[in-house]
Amino acid sequence: MTGPVPELTDRATACAERLLEADGVLLASHIDADGLTSAAIAARALERAGLPFETVFEKQLDDAAIAAIAATDYDTVLFTDFGSGQLDVIREHEDAGAFTPVIADHHQPATIDGQRSSSRVDTEYHLNPLLFGIDGSSELSGAGASYVLARALATASDADSEPPIATDGGAETDAADADAPSGTRADNRDLAALAVVGAVGDMQASGGELHGANAKIVAEGVDAGVLETGTDLSLYGKQTRPLPKLLEYATDVHIPGVSNDEGGALRFLDGLDLELKRDGEWRRWSGLTADEKQTVASALVRRAVSKGVPASKIEQLVGTAYVLSAEPVGTELRDASEFSTLLNATARYERADVGLAVCLGDRDGALERARTLLRDHRRNLSSGIDLVTREGVTVEEHVQWFHAGDRIRETIVGIVAGMALGNDGISRSKPIVAFADKDDDEVKVSARGTHALVRRGLDLSAVLGEAARAVGGDGGGHDVAAGATVPAGAEAAFVERVDELVGEQLS
Ligand code: C5P
Ligand code: C5P
Ligand code: C5P
Ligand code: ZN
Repeated sequence: MTGPVPELTDRATACAERLLEADGVLLASHIDADGLTSAAIAARALERAGLPFETVFEKQLDDAAIAAIAATDYDTVLFTDFGSGQLDVIREHEDAGAFTPVIADHHQPATIDGQRSSSRVDTEYHLNPLLFGIDGSSELSGAGASYVLARALATASDADSEPPIATDGGAETDAADADAPSGTRADNRDLAALAVVGAVGDMQASGGELHGANAKIVAEGVDAGVLETGTDLSLYGKQTRPLPKLLEYATDVHIPGVSNDEGGALRFLDGLDLELKRDGEWRRWSGLTADEKQTVASALVRRAVSKGVPASKIEQLVGTAYVLSAEPVGTELRDASEFSTLLNATARYERADVGLAVCLGDRDGALERARTLLRDHRRNLSSGIDLVTREGVTVEEHVQWFHAGDRIRETIVGIVAGMALGNDGISRSKPIVAFADKDDDEVKVSARGTHALVRRGLDLSAVLGEAARAVGGDGGGHDVAAGATVPAGAEAAFVERVDELVGEQLS
């Protein structure tokens, strides 16, 4: 039986079989959109396999967090969307008999960056695309790895269990589960939609779409009836934003007289032959007919062309949209990009429980709470981006950096840095390094690059890991986006080391 990503099938099967031997599983995951969707996929799959489990979330899987996990009674721990970067520490606890780790992750393993510790750091049940020649920053996310595991769990638990007794149908029922498209629950293919939300949340789409193993998961989701894909405008907010706001806030490609221009966006729409309001409410992109969408998109492109926006930029206005077809039109949940932002708005504010509940189908209380958190998250992102753009960055030879102190929350400073890249005075030709206070003793670092820089040799995971360890901290992540924790006061020495290392990589 092959899974969605054939290279990973054998390892996924081994991991699944090990989980099925457990009496209970502690599921530990990361606090962002990818971590939440990873946890939701794993939770559903464990539940369907009849395995009791408990879920915990960690901001950072540091030594203390791993020690706390080891101190629980669980003999089997499933790590999703982290674990690989901490294999050495996890391995010590495993060797001491604390627990058996099963890991579904896509971050650079401690062994690959080579700096963190010596030989022998791997573990038997380690599912990571990077071990099988698949790119963990662009081809498979933590949620994707969890999905591959979930598919293997369905197959393995099927083979494991007695044939169902025909009289009662043999199938489990679960209220929250009941609206999943029929026939896809047994093999977990309905979970592909969450895997796509995780990949989009980790910004794995490039050139407007998902690639590689991610694309295979998309195909399974389409097959299973939980996803629809199509070429569409690539603006953020197609489901929920009123049309004028959709255009005004569209800034990835700057359209003169529309982007960042409230009056301009309104005048642009007024100039089109289009019904703009219904029942006194602004219409949204998701409610337009195909013809109406065409009208707006063509006019936008014409405007961009007439204002001299380069063709390569104009192309970026269009991309593949990933639509969760089981979710209601006009909600954040229907668009993979909006869904992932909604999740970040919960987990990055210590409310992972809310995001997880939304992923698991709670459409009432949890969704309303998530929406409230989303309003704050948006405000924080926008004021963070304003702050960085207004105050500017310090430009070194090979990198640029800023220190937000306590003015940007450490859990979102990386998102802010990534979104600020390309704004006035913040060039996309150098990676950006951002600092924010964690507590009195420690500073959080986030770094973001571009795919163009990665093609020239940039690997921020290796850079942040090595530079952080040089000043008594630790870090890791992906080539294009990485993070670290360093002691307060070590920032200058850290930046200097980062600058040197990036210089070596890009030379
Ligand atoms: O821990 P994790 O893998 O989930 O985080 C990935 C982070 O990298 C996300 O915050 C995502 O926004 C960022 N990223 C980025 N640019 C990319 C790819 C990922 O900023 N091209
Ligand atoms: O939408 P995109 O994939 O570029 O997301 C980058 C990050 O910024 C996401 O975490 C999303 O939450 C957020 N975002 C936003 N408003 C926008 C664009 C992006 O909140 N207009
Ligand atoms: O926190 P931030 O969004 O900047 O994280 C970027 C990437 O670096 C994420 O994939 C995160 O998991 C990783 N990271 C890490 N070690 C840290 C901090 C972040 O591997 N100490
Ligand atoms: Zn991830």
